[in-house]
Amino acid sequence: MRKKFIAGNWKMNTTAIGAELLAAAVVKGLGGDTSVTVAVCPPFPYLFRVGQALAGSPVGLGAQNCYHEKAGAFTGEVSPEMLVDAGCRYVILGHSERRHKMGEADACINKKTHAALAAGLQVILCVGETLAERDGAKTDQVLDTQITAGLEKITAELLAKMVIAYEPVWAIGTGRTATPEQAQQAHVTIRKRVAQLCGPAAAQALVIQYGGSLTPKTADGLLCQPDIDGGLIGGASLKPEEFLAIVAAAKKVP
Ligand code: PGA
Repeated sequence: MRKKFIAGNWKMNTTAIGAELLAAAVVKGLGGDTSVTVAVCPPFPYLFRVGQALAGSPVGLGAQNCYHEKAGAFTGEVSPEMLVDAGCRYVILGHSERRHKMGEADACINKKTHAALAAGLQVILCVGETLAERDGAKTDQVLDTQITAGLEKITAELLAKMVIAYEPVWAIGTGRTATPEQAQQAHVTIRKRVAQLCGPAAAQALVIQYGGSLTPKTADGLLCQPDIDGGLIGGASLKPEEFLAIVAAAKKVP
């Protein structure tokens, strides 16, 4: 039985005090409940402060990116070891905004994945097709490519420290959510590919989140799908009542 996992991706939002208040509101609203795994991923400068606000609570701390090297002359980059040092348990890698706005390719994402896992982080690896790819009936092909390249040299043992987030690019920040059927179908495609790469048991145990305009309104329909094991939440994670309502929806699923 896979435990539902709801993570907030705050992207390049909040301020120091705003981040602290948001984290405190999530902690308070959750009230120590551990029936759903919950994490928040603030911007780098606020990791410590948010980590302090989360201390003693079940809410995990995550970052939104990292570099693949441990240390050295890499101006502007942040290593996985630094994230661990800052109290992170998770790191989001391969988000579509990094793929499409910063030009990150699958090989680079795979390098980061290995480095983050080696440092002891759990990786949330994002995959998803653009609207043109979906309209061109290329969704399965794109997911296969991103999963195969993203999981290169990832063993079943390493996969146990990973989560995959299916985030159709056309649904991110657009208010246009994938239907539960569209998302379920994509999750099945991903799980099948993972089974071929890492074995059926590892694929069955893998948590696959859906992300893309997930709100309290759409949460029930999506989260009750058999292969949707949680959500990676952008916009709605900046409003504690909405984020907590999505966690509550995840809790309701048997
Ligand atoms: P959104 O973002 O919920 O604002 O669509 C999701 C994401 O990009 O992780």
